[in-house]
Amino acid sequence: MNKLKLPRLRWSLLMCALLSLSLWQPAAANEGGGDAVSDHDRRMEWFREARFGMFIHFGLYSVAAGEWEGESVGFAEYFGFRNPNEWQTLLPKFNPEKFDADAIVRAAKDAGMKYLVITSKHHDGFCLFKSEHTDFDVMSTPFKRDIVAELAEACRKHGLRFGFYYSIIDFNHLDYLPRAGFDPRPADGADFDRYIEFMKAQLKELLTNYGKIDVVWFDGEWESSWTHEHAKDMWDYIRGIAPDVLINNRIDKGRAGMQGMNTAEHYLGDFGTPEQELLERNPGEDWETCQTMNRKGNWGWRKDEADFYSKTELVRQIIDCASMGGNMLLNVGPKDDGTIPETSMVRLQAIGEWMAVHGETIYGSQASPYDSPPEWGTATVKGNLLYCHVYQWPEDGTITLPPLAEAPTGAWAHGDADRKPLDMQAVDRGGVKIDISKVERNPHATVIALSFP
Ligand code: GLC
Repeated sequence: MNKLKLPRLRWSLLMCALLSLSLWQPAAANEGGGDAVSDHDRRMEWFREARFGMFIHFGLYSVAAGEWEGESVGFAEYFGFRNPNEWQTLLPKFNPEKFDADAIVRAAKDAGMKYLVITSKHHDGFCLFKSEHTDFDVMSTPFKRDIVAELAEACRKHGLRFGFYYSIIDFNHLDYLPRAGFDPRPADGADFDRYIEFMKAQLKELLTNYGKIDVVWFDGEWESSWTHEHAKDMWDYIRGIAPDVLINNRIDKGRAGMQGMNTAEHYLGDFGTPEQELLERNPGEDWETCQTMNRKGNWGWRKDEADFYSKTELVRQIIDCASMGGNMLLNVGPKDDGTIPETSMVRLQAIGEWMAVHGETIYGSQASPYDSPPEWGTATVKGNLLYCHVYQWPEDGTITLPPLAEAPTGAWAHGDADRKPLDMQAVDRGGVKIDISKVERNPHATVIALSFP
């Protein structure tokens, strides 16, 4: 094979490429808030390997299913911002008889997911776990089964990591402030410090009653009552109980809106949390996009949901995250009976089929060496391999790789057990053209593997 001739003028570009290709170091770590970077790197190891997880939004709102008194409400999980006394009337109706933690975890595993994060308590304050500190929990419903416990156990059985979402906002709790505009209950006597003690007591339950917890996923940090000081105190409190647990950056006040990354180094968080957005550049820090399967962005189940991302779009979103050094936490909102909606199941299955063949190009991968994606798709890197994920099938049957510091030593269709070599040709300015015309196309993304010395 010809060594590619590299033009002198493109020295700086080549140096960049050389660095990314020869070192292929993991992305520089986020400071992880105050503690040694090595501690942060150590606890992030499994997360960087995992790349893909399941988010579950389940609660009383799953009974309402996006409707209140016959009318469709805004985001399903907000009940249309009603008076908490009203949504408490759903307690006797929460009875997801078909809830099967094992089946849910198997669906996640079959989709290629490596971890699972469940809403232990959403903004409404309803707890899916047995809590000694509130009656507004699953034990006060006819169901009377600790959903967090059942999922934690199923995850352990099937080898998935397990984490819980915990909302800082608690619209139900009388000590929570500020009192929401839709809540008629007076704020007199409310004590936010006492609320924080309640949070800590619940977090202790969650961190100690369910075996090893891998992620604490905070949310609702945008409220005026929550401060950076609260975040620091909570960070230390959690680290004191579970030194290795990952804590997302919504524990603190640094998140730059939906884009999700912290705006300054002093803000805490093991990873950034873009929401319904994919980063278009590798930020050089750990991150995880959380994403619904529906375009409207409902996290909870709603029966009138109609507009979903296609299977292809979802597969590509997972690849796009990995190609920018991030994870994808893909949401499902179980129905009131506890089962995952069919629209989500078929998507999980399609993703699983793709991941079963090409997952190794995602798990433990590092970001694409290309600053902007090539016209045919995107790429990930693993060891001395470059994986090209082809989205746009080229009319002439060839893809051209932008210049890299070294010539590839081989190219083949990923998934081809024989690794039948594909024709490669040096082109202008140090690029390489690969003939993929005989490669079997995958409708979601066809993967071409390239090896480097
Ligand atoms: C937003 C929504 C909340 C959802 C969360 C997931 O904060 O308000 O409903 O749980 O995103 O990232």
